[in-house]
Amino acid sequence: LSVDTVKRLTLEAVRRRILRRQHPVSDPLLADTGASIARMPDAEALFKGLYRGEIRLGRIGWEWGDMYNDAALMFLCCLAGRAQGPIIEFGTHRGRTTYNLALNSNVEVITIDADLEDKEANIAGHEYGLREVGSVFLHDPDAASSRIRMIRMDSRVVDLTSLRGSASLVLVDGGHSYEVCSSDSRMALQLLHPGGLAAWDDYGGYWPGAKRAIDELAHQVELVYLEREGLVVYVAPQVR
Ligand SMILES: C[S@@+](CC[C@H](N)C(=O)[O-])C[C@H]1O[C@@H](n2cnc3c(N)ncnc32)[C@H](O)[C@@H]1O
Repeated sequence: LSVDTVKRLTLEAVRRRILRRQHPVSDPLLADTGASIARMPDAEALFKGLYRGEIRLGRIGWEWGDMYNDAALMFLCCLAGRAQGPIIEFGTHRGRTTYNLALNSNVEVITIDADLEDKEANIAGHEYGLREVGSVFLHDPDAASSRIRMIRMDSRVVDLTSLRGSASLVLVDGGHSYEVCSSDSRMALQLLHPGGLAAWDDYGGYWPGAKRAIDELAHQVELVYLEREGLVVYVAPQVR
């Protein structure tokens, strides 16, 4: 290899490294919700006193594809501490969120991932690249990891019938195409028990298909956008 080629390859490697670490949504307040999704400043507006509790965080090193907004992670961990029924996550990726949900709860955390690329679904064609699905909790087992059940299947075909009406918390963060996000969102609503909460990450222009699916859902059920957490949420009505 010539010196020039080595220089070029090194620069390219550095450029790719920087790209991998960048995230397109730097300010969640910027997400444009349109008329059908109400906005609230943060989750305390919905759940009084939620943030007075304590949570634990672990293994929080960040890579592209992991949940970007730590306020979202903290909110979900606070809710996980209150969960009575299973927590279900569409989209495991490395399992950073999965692990922390398990760390803060005593219930089963079910996470679904088919190890699929989603580069067509974002406007930059960004790939997840080399990663091992579930690596955060698979190799260093502890009490939290033992509460996690990973299902390695396409969420569009996985059978979750036995979990209907049982989940306290569902995170929709799997495939971000319109088709997959619509299918996961429909399933999420069926999984919740009364008072349970579904949350959608990555609502915004960077993932247009997911945004369209969530906007459509907002015409059927009441969705709220939490500005600080950068999450869209739905709370299943309590049965009277
Ligand atoms: C944004 S990542 C999940 C991030 C993770 N929830 C977190 O908080 O760190 C999306 C994941 O969804 C998975 N995925 C994409 N399409 C899928 C499908 N149809 N079924 C199951 N998993 C899918 C991808 O393999 C990827 O790991």
